[in-house]
Amino acid sequence: MKILVATEKPFAPTAVSDIRDIVEKAGYQFLLLEKYTDKTQLLDAVKDVDALIVRSDKVTAEVIDAAKNLKIVVRAGAGYDNVDLAAANARKIVVMNTPGQNSNAVAELALGMMIYMARNQFNPGTGSEISKKRLGIHAYGHIGAILGRYGNALDMKVYAYSRSIAQKKLALPQGINGVESVEQLYGQSDYLSIHVPVNEQTKKSIGYDLLSKLPKGAVIINTARKEVIDEAGLLKVMEERTDLKYATDVKPDNYDELVAKCGNRVFATPKKMGAETKEANINAGLAAARQAVGYLKDGDTTFQVNK
Ligand code: 3PG
Repeated sequence: MKILVATEKPFAPTAVSDIRDIVEKAGYQFLLLEKYTDKTQLLDAVKDVDALIVRSDKVTAEVIDAAKNLKIVVRAGAGYDNVDLAAANARKIVVMNTPGQNSNAVAELALGMMIYMARNQFNPGTGSEISKKRLGIHAYGHIGAILGRYGNALDMKVYAYSRSIAQKKLALPQGINGVESVEQLYGQSDYLSIHVPVNEQTKKSIGYDLLSKLPKGAVIINTARKEVIDEAGLLKVMEERTDLKYATDVKPDNYDELVAKCGNRVFATPKKMGAETKEANINAGLAAARQAVGYLKDGDTTFQVNK
């Protein structure tokens, strides 16, 4: 059987070589497609593979259709919005993610962005410190929990909101203060860090009304997805509230207009950087390889997201 790693944005070489070991030790053939520039290369590469491991690569209905032997797709990472689940379901193809494996890298990037924005993107001039400020965590999953600990270590007052917190279904560790509504969270966050997954309910869910609630001088950090932001609302609030700053891992679609109107109150990474560490590549990549092998060998469906 054949396992293909297809990554437009490659894993660190050490992760690739360990993934190859896992696949070959299981008796399967390892195939690699990196830095492809055209979807036809992916369509061609998937033709006779049994398993596909990807990062943010788009696994569309066309890709699934081209992969006649495909049994499993593993998204090495958290968000699986890049995989067409309906197309996978129609072929009974198992889809998995590797939850938690790259969370620390993303939490560190969020923390770094907070300091970067607090210090005026390291330009001359008086910045501020994040210590003693209020950190709001919107969606308290793997990444939010790590960021909460880092916030506590830096003497920040940490607040968190997620539906399970509001419904009192989640016991929070000491130092993390649950709030009952998302409006309340935004109303009291000097640093607001977004960790909401993108799905039909969350698309464009963070817009003008919510962002308007932020206190004076607040910094918004988005290491989740651009799709959860209502970009017209973001632009409007950023224009009206010249005290706000926005840092995001991946450019919004209206980036040029945002920068033209808001200058360096806006910062965007050129390419998604959250999971771009050797450690995250190793954690997520090896987990993905083990999960693909585990399914092909033993039918293990732990971490399947389309059950
Ligand atoms: C994720 O959902 O795991 C992150 O967004 C990382 O995506 P990447 O593997 O494309 O860097």
